Amino acid sequence: MEIDKVLFPEDRIQERVMEIASQVSVDYKDKGCLMIGILKGAFVFLSDLARNISSPVEFDFMALSSYGSSTKTSGVVRILKDLDADIHGRDVLIVEDIIDTGLTLKYLMGNLSTREPSSLSICALLNKETIRQVQLPIKYVGFSIPDIFVVGYGLDYAERYRNLPYIASVK
Ligand code: IMP
Ligand code: MG
Repeated sequence: MEIDKVLFPEDRIQERVMEIASQVSVDYKDKGCLMIGILKGAFVFLSDLARNISSPVEFDFMALSSYGSSTKTSGVVRILKDLDADIHGRDVLIVEDIIDTGLTLKYLMGNLSTREPSSLSICALLNKETIRQVQLPIKYVGFSIPDIFVVGYGLDYAERYRNLPYIASVK
């Protein structure tokens, strides 16, 4: 696989990330939120987003893995790293790189809601316009994209390309 076309150049991503950060800052103005970054893909998005948020934020991370091939989710999710902290009564914002089938987040929402947070919302950089198998309450989305495989800005193909400052398709 190699890089095909740039879909979102660096300046366009940064502009959109700042817009989302402003919205998060307003929505969680005084109460703040606990941002949960989903490793590894969300680490770049989360760090840019967080540095533009003016409301109080804390961070935690989870690592998830789904069984199956490298480009499709099976829906069977394993927790590789759980949260450090208890989220009971907290305003939680899950930060994810991309939503494809939505199966990973559906599992995660179910798992985290049993821990009784005060609120549980989703912020995703990319949302694939696939025929969703599941309904998700997505509060913030960076960009909608067609059903193609993309890399860069945290997203990988076989662990490569996460460091690209732009988002591109691969061939
Ligand atoms: P879902 O469970 O099908 O929504 O899959 C979500 C996960 O699959 C994301 O967190 C990514 O790790 C991975 N993924 C889905 N589509 C892409 C893509 O186009 N590029 C890189 N990773 C992807
Ligand atoms: Mg991944």
